Amino acid sequence: MKAAVFKGSGQPLSIENVSKPTSLPDQIVVKVAACGVCHTDLHYLDHGVPTFKKPPIILGHEAAGWVEAVGEGVTTFKKEQTVLIPAVLTCGQCGMCRQGRANICEKMQMLGNHMDGAFAEYVRVPARDVLPLPAEVDPVEACIVADAVTTAYHAVVNRAQVRAGDRVAIFGCGGVGLSAVQLAALSGAVVTAVDLDEKKLALAKELGAVETVNAKGSAECGKEIRRRTGGVDRAMECIGRPDTIRQAQESLRIGGRLCIVGYSEKPVELSAAKIMFQEQEVVGSLGCRPVDFGRVLDLVRVGRLRLGPLVTGRRPLGEIGAAFDDLRAGRSVRTVILPG
Ligand code: APR
Ligand code: ZN
Repeated sequence: MKAAVFKGSGQPLSIENVSKPTSLPDQIVVKVAACGVCHTDLHYLDHGVPTFKKPPIILGHEAAGWVEAVGEGVTTFKKEQTVLIPAVLTCGQCGMCRQGRANICEKMQMLGNHMDGAFAEYVRVPARDVLPLPAEVDPVEACIVADAVTTAYHAVVNRAQVRAGDRVAIFGCGGVGLSAVQLAALSGAVVTAVDLDEKKLALAKELGAVETVNAKGSAECGKEIRRRTGGVDRAMECIGRPDTIRQAQESLRIGGRLCIVGYSEKPVELSAAKIMFQEQEVVGSLGCRPVDFGRVLDLVRVGRLRLGPLVTGRRPLGEIGAAFDDLRAGRSVRTVILPG
């Protein structure tokens, strides 16, 4: 089969013929319908963040497709059924899993990081982690639920705990941020969306933001939002930069909560005085609990959560390099790769 193989940071993905995975006990082989191109992959490709499995490794962790083969002992799936593969596989046994916090499983394994991923015609995964897709849901669009959309759900609902009437500022209108805009608006919040790109801001409005702010890279952007709104109840950083994490805190009102969804390896300076005197809270958010995936898919199934506008490009596997160039240049929200 064809696959996009990661050889090391700074090198382009190499399209190669590799052997097709065979079924193993309790695992299924999925024919990949689509796999989303995600900012996380850029950390490996461009920024020297190592993958857990040493290269060569097939990247891709945001996939949906059709069951191709089921291993011995798998009773829950049939051939050709459409399925969603969560980006992160959990152990179900560790302390965090047992506390209902499986999104921070102590033994988590990520597709396209700990094991071969889904920028390939086929991928093998444990059956217990895979979700059936409702018949009404297109697997090509649904692949982005595996990471971007569910990450936003956990952040908005469980970590930021957005409630009806909250003022919420969302920094970054990529795949994660625009999903957060939709979910916060669905929760009844008054959403301010922040980005540098007018097209993404227009999309944020279409998806439920009440107002948008073009940050234009200004360090004053957070303070400006605080002046304009009186301060937001919840600020969500969906970019992963020290400066925008700080701006997000600056947009908060007294008693507000900052939710950090974007990843930065660099230290960030925040106002400890505001965390103390104004009882501002800072929480992080990682991925999504398996138990919440069904809730997200239900919102998609009934049409309350829209995936179509987030999928801004579809490309064959051979064009994966161009898809990453689009992401680097900020030209796409989510490009999905169709390996078949
Ligand atoms: N101010 C405002 N917006 C910015 C700025 C800035 N200084 N810099 C970048 N942005 C916007 C980009 O224009 C883009 O729309 O942030 C958005 C980031 O989106 P993507 O690159 O598509 O990233 P996404 O896949 O949504 O992930 C966002 O979440 O899970 C993490 O690792 C992931 O750190 C990443 C973050
Ligand atoms: Zn666990």
